Amino acid sequence: MTTLTVNGIGRTVSSTPDTPLLYVLRDELELNGAKFGCGLGQCGACAVLVDGEPVFSCITPVMLLEGRDIRTLEGLGTAEAPGPLQAAFIEEQTAQCGYCIAGMIMRAQALLERIPHPGDDDILTALEPQLCRCGTHMRIVRAVRRAAQNMARASE
Ligand code: FES
Ligand code: FES
Repeated sequence: MTTLTVNGIGRTVSSTPDTPLLYVLRDELELNGAKFGCGLGQCGACAVLVDGEPVFSCITPVMLLEGRDIRTLEGLGTAEAPGPLQAAFIEEQTAQCGYCIAGMIMRAQALLERIPHPGDDDILTALEPQLCRCGTHMRIVRAVRRAAQNMARASE
């Protein structure tokens, strides 16, 4: 048994300690935002935040995560009430196949928590580990920019 904190809620999971977090999220906790892409830490489809930092959940065993703060796409908002980044990604119609989008949003979330007003270079650098095979990168950059502007306006 491993006790995790996922999106602010304590969860006890029965997967073996060496199970990658991605499988625990999807198969045991039914949190399907994070996606399986490569399973090798190379594409970013599985990115979630641990203590505010993006990690590849496909190669992160749960035994390393007890007492850490895990956040997934589901922790940022819902279909009915999307968070600022989720709303901006929808408004900019970033998704083509959509497979990369959850990881992109999680890494963008980490960026905006660190740099609330990022320039395009900041956005491009932060998102570099994330692959989008459909090539929607410029729409994704616009969405992150839009989310930062909307969040700044909302805090005025
Ligand atoms: Fe984890 Fe590709 S599925 S990095
Ligand atoms: Fe298809 Fe990015 S929208 S991989």
